Amino acid sequence: MSAPAGPAEQALRAAVESSCAIQVSRDAAAAFLSSELDHWLDPTVPPDELDGLVLARLVTHEIRWVGKHFLQPDRLERLAAVRDRYAGRDPYLDAFLDCLLDKHEGRFWNRTYLSLPVLEVVLAEHDLQPSGVAALLAADIVRYELCAAHRRTEVSPVGRPESRTLRTRVRHSLRFMTAHLGGAASEDLLSAIAHDPESDLPALLLQLPTPPIATAGEWIELSLQPVSTVHDEYFFMRVLQAHEMAFAGMNRRLRDAVVALREHEYDVATRLLEEVVAFMDRNASLFRIVATMRYEAFHTFREFTDGASAIQSEQYKRFEGLCGLPPATRLGSPAFESVPAVRAEVGEGQDTVTDAYLAASADERSAVELVKFSTLLRALEDSHRRWKSTHVTLASRMLGEARGSGYTSGVEYLSEWLDHRLFWRLPGIGVTDTSRRSA
Ligand code: HEM
Repeated sequence: MSAPAGPAEQALRAAVESSCAIQVSRDAAAAFLSSELDHWLDPTVPPDELDGLVLARLVTHEIRWVGKHFLQPDRLERLAAVRDRYAGRDPYLDAFLDCLLDKHEGRFWNRTYLSLPVLEVVLAEHDLQPSGVAALLAADIVRYELCAAHRRTEVSPVGRPESRTLRTRVRHSLRFMTAHLGGAASEDLLSAIAHDPESDLPALLLQLPTPPIATAGEWIELSLQPVSTVHDEYFFMRVLQAHEMAFAGMNRRLRDAVVALREHEYDVATRLLEEVVAFMDRNASLFRIVATMRYEAFHTFREFTDGASAIQSEQYKRFEGLCGLPPATRLGSPAFESVPAVRAEVGEGQDTVTDAYLAASADERSAVELVKFSTLLRALEDSHRRWKSTHVTLASRMLGEARGSGYTSGVEYLSEWLDHRLFWRLPGIGVTDTSRRSA
């Protein structure tokens, strides 16, 4: 029998418990939500007694038990009635319900699967940096995994992973998080999991960063509604959200770099591009995290994610478009057909890094100042090429011959675009093999 815990240990345990999300039994979650919905749909209840955060939290408790795909039709109809009655009152609740009802209303896709509209409200309402949010999402992976270990939930292919996988998953998540946060505290966090994350769990959980604003933190927590109850789906979704945030951060910098080039502020443009290259290198961690996903887990939840694919990632396509106008073959391929809004932006003739760089290099007096910039363009091209190649390796391992959830041929489709270059119009930096596809 173990010795009774002393006051210090009890205090630590209580602190750890409060770092992990509250757990409510399945029956209690269902009963709380039913009564909250009665309240929202009762015309005699004054609107100021209704709190969107409370409703979203209760919905989330139920989804953690059943998975979004398995919500009962009558539940969904009542939630749709709340959405219709209160639309426009609370941007968070609007975004939350828009995503929640996607499957029910036959409009499920990457954006709503990943609750990106909720994260966009978080960014807009609090003026947060996408890279900061990316770090918080990675921190949430660590929290989720460690809390499951702390609660000793079942270890199984669709349940929590065994220690070795846990350690690798946590290490890569922390690496991505600390790279986005920077600073000495990050190093301490990484060394904390060098040996055994389960035994160092309490200390590690308490060191994780928290959002600067409580409301933002609450909604980040609620911005994840898995379609299933498979343990690994949670971290997979957080990785895809972090990918979206990382590219949003890169796009802000690319836009600013274009302006800086046009204004001949080459130092500024170079510093911004340096940051973009660092982001792109860092994105490799995202695939390393996902490489810890168990095959069986992926194929179990994948059954319910058809129609949602990262091919619909708007930030990734925006990134391509800001680097330079893609060739007609790329614009006419499923890559851009899957993101009509971005295809329209690109088609409107936006300024790009390629165009601004070509204009700057036409002036011989800028040649010396652009040397470092052109080296960075090459570094970005190479880093992106490595990133695509790791993606193909991961996809072949997880998918084999199966088609993608975005209905492409899968690995074959991805391989076809491996040699495609971001800076295909810049000689010496990236030249597309035009013998295979004409621009
Ligand atoms: C189990 C892991 C993964 C598999 C099996 C996989 C598979 C695929 C497949 C087959 C496609 C082609 C579109 C389709 O039919 O769905 C695709 C596209 C894409 N995936 Fe993944 N993927 C995985 C993880 C990831 C992760 C973690 C990220 C981001 C960090 C990501 C980012 C992308 C992007 C940006 C595209 C669009 C590529 C383009 O259009 O050129 N994928 N993925």
